[in-house]
Amino acid sequence: MCGITGYIGYREAYPIIIKGLQRLEYRGYDSAGILLYNDDVFISKTKGKVSDLEDLMNTDSSKQGNIGFGHTRWATHGIPNNINSHPHTSNSGNLVIIHNGIIENYDALKKELIKRNYTFKSDTDTEVLVNLIEEVKKTNDCKLGKAVQIALNEVIGAYAICVFDKTKPNELVVARLGSPIAIGIGKENKEFFVASDASPFIEYTKNAIYLEDEEMAIITANKEVEIRKIKDDSIITPEIQQLKMNLEQIEKGGYDHFMLKEIYEQPHAITDTYRGRLIANQGIIRMAGVDDNMEKFLNADRIIIVACGTSWHAGLVAEYLFEDIARIPVEVEYASEFRYRNPIITEKDVVITISQSGETADTLAAIKLAKSKGAFVFGICNVVGSSIAREAHAGAYTHAGPEIGVASTKAFTTQITLLSLIALKLGKAKGSLSNAAYRNYLQEMELIPKKVERLLKEDENVKYISSIYKDVPNCLYLGRGYNFPVALEGALKLKEISYIHAEGYPAAEMKHGPIALIDENMPVFVIAINKGHYEKVVSNIQEIKSRKGKIIAIVTEGDIQVKKIADHVIEIPETEEAFTPLLTTIPLQLLSYHIAVMLNKNVDQPRNLAKSVTVE
Ligand code: AGP
Repeated sequence: MCGITGYIGYREAYPIIIKGLQRLEYRGYDSAGILLYNDDVFISKTKGKVSDLEDLMNTDSSKQGNIGFGHTRWATHGIPNNINSHPHTSNSGNLVIIHNGIIENYDALKKELIKRNYTFKSDTDTEVLVNLIEEVKKTNDCKLGKAVQIALNEVIGAYAICVFDKTKPNELVVARLGSPIAIGIGKENKEFFVASDASPFIEYTKNAIYLEDEEMAIITANKEVEIRKIKDDSIITPEIQQLKMNLEQIEKGGYDHFMLKEIYEQPHAITDTYRGRLIANQGIIRMAGVDDNMEKFLNADRIIIVACGTSWHAGLVAEYLFEDIARIPVEVEYASEFRYRNPIITEKDVVITISQSGETADTLAAIKLAKSKGAFVFGICNVVGSSIAREAHAGAYTHAGPEIGVASTKAFTTQITLLSLIALKLGKAKGSLSNAAYRNYLQEMELIPKKVERLLKEDENVKYISSIYKDVPNCLYLGRGYNFPVALEGALKLKEISYIHAEGYPAAEMKHGPIALIDENMPVFVIAINKGHYEKVVSNIQEIKSRKGKIIAIVTEGDIQVKKIADHVIEIPETEEAFTPLLTTIPLQLLSYHIAVMLNKNVDQPRNLAKSVTVE
C-alpha cells in the first residue's frame, strides 16, 4: 500500500503535497518523492521518510509550481532505495507517474518495451507502466488521457496512478483499479486535489469524487473534472460527495482503530498475497523464490520453521499444511529458543523464517545461526527490503501492506495464505497431491477473500458475545488439528490488547489438567468446525458443559449438534480443512478487539508492547 497525493490550481503545490504525504505515511514509509512543474519538471526522491525528502528539498530552492504530485512508498517490487522511489519518468522525460498497487504482468510488458528500445533504471513495475503509456501515446499520436486509457487495457493488476505530461502541463490524469483515489474539488473548479484518501485535502475542501474501479479522470484547472470508463473510454457523470469524516477518521479509513481497519482489510490483503502468484484456472502457483530453489525444498530432510509470537502461530499452521499436503517433515521453533539451544542443523535442512516486520532480533539471529550451519534459509516477510528479507537466501513477501496496529491480524492471515501456496506447490511437485485435489485447493483459495468478507458480517454477533465476557479474569481457547494454532493465536490476541489472561490448548489436552479450571466463571472459546475430529471436539464440549463451563463455539454454517449445547455460536463458511485457519481466526480477532475497546484499552498501542521487537 502506498500513498499518493497531487495538486493543480492557484496555490503553491509544494507545501500542500508535502503535508499530504505526511498524512499518508501510515500507508507506507520506505521512500518518498515529489514532482513539481514550474516551466520545467522538477523531481526529488529519496529512500526513507517524508522528512528525509523535506531535508533533501531544503537544499534545493526548486519548490515553486502550482501543479505536482507526491508519493510515499510501501515497496512491493524493487527494494526501497532512491532509484526505485517514485515518481518515475518515461524514457523521453515527458511523462511522469506515481503509482499505488501491483502490475502483475509487468515482466511481459517490460520485455516487449525492451524490444522497442526502451531502457529501465529501476526494478519497479511502475517504470514499466509509464513507458507503456509513452509507447501508446507515440504510436497512437494521442493525448495523455487517451494513452492512459489504452495502456491500462493491457495491464493486469491493481493500481491508483497519477500521470503528468510536461508537453501539456496544465492537467493531471488519474486512474484506479483496486487501489483508492479521491479527487478533492476546489471552489469554482479553481483547484483540484488528488489523494489515496481525503486526509491531504480535507482542510481545503469537503467536496470529493471517489473514483470507482476501472474509472479514470482528466483533471484540468478551471475546468470540470472529466471522468471516463477505462474499458471503453465512455464519459461518466461524476458524483460529488460532501465529506463528513475528520482527519483522524480518514487516516483510519473511517474505522476507530488501525487494528479494526486491518481486520477488515484482510479480504483485500489475502487477494494481494496471491495476486500474480495463483492462476487457479491454469493450475499454476508461481513463486520465484520457491521455483528457483525447488530442489532444496524437495530434497530437504526436514523444514524447520522459526518465528516469534503470531508469526510462530502461522508457523504451527504451516506444520499441518506441509506435512498433510506436501508430506515433508516439519519442526516449528521459537526463534528465541532455537538460537540458544545449540540445535542440530545440517545442509539438508530448509529453514523458513516468518516475520511481519522483518526486524525481529531473535528471528534474525536464528537465520544467521542456520546459515552458519549450511542450511538454506527462506524468509517470509511483509516489509520489503527488511533485515530478515535481506539476510535470507530467498523468500517471499506477503504484500499485506503496512500493519500499524501492534496486534497482528492481516499479517497472520497473509502469512498462512503464502504458506498454503508453498505447501500446495511442493505437494504438486512431490506428487503427494492428486491433480484433482490440487486444482480444487487452488479454486477454493480464490474463494477465501469473499468468505472472509461474508464472515466479517458476523461482527455484531461477536460484539454482543464480547459484551457478555468482557469482564472475565481468565479465558480458555481450544482447537484441534489445523485449528490448534488458531486457539493459541486467539488467546494471544485477547491477552495482548485487553490484558485478560487467556490460554490456548489442543482440545484433547483438557483432560490432562486444564479441565480443573472449568467452572461457571470460565468462558471457553472452542473451534468446532465440521472438519477434522468434529465428534471428538463435541465430546470435549460436553465435558466442559458438565462442569458448568461457558461455551462459545466457532462452527461451520449449518451446524446443528454444537448449537444445541453451546451458550453462543459464531458460524463460519464451509471451506477446505487446510484453509479453515484463514476463517476461524477472524471472529477471534474481532472478539479481542471489541473486548479491548469495551475495557477502554489502547487497542493500537497496548501497554508494554512494540510493533517490532528489535531487541533480545
Ligand atoms: C502479535 O500480535 C504480536 N504483535 C507479536 O507477537 C508479533 O507477532 C511478534 O513480535 C513477531 O513479530 P514479527 O512477525 O514482526 O517478527
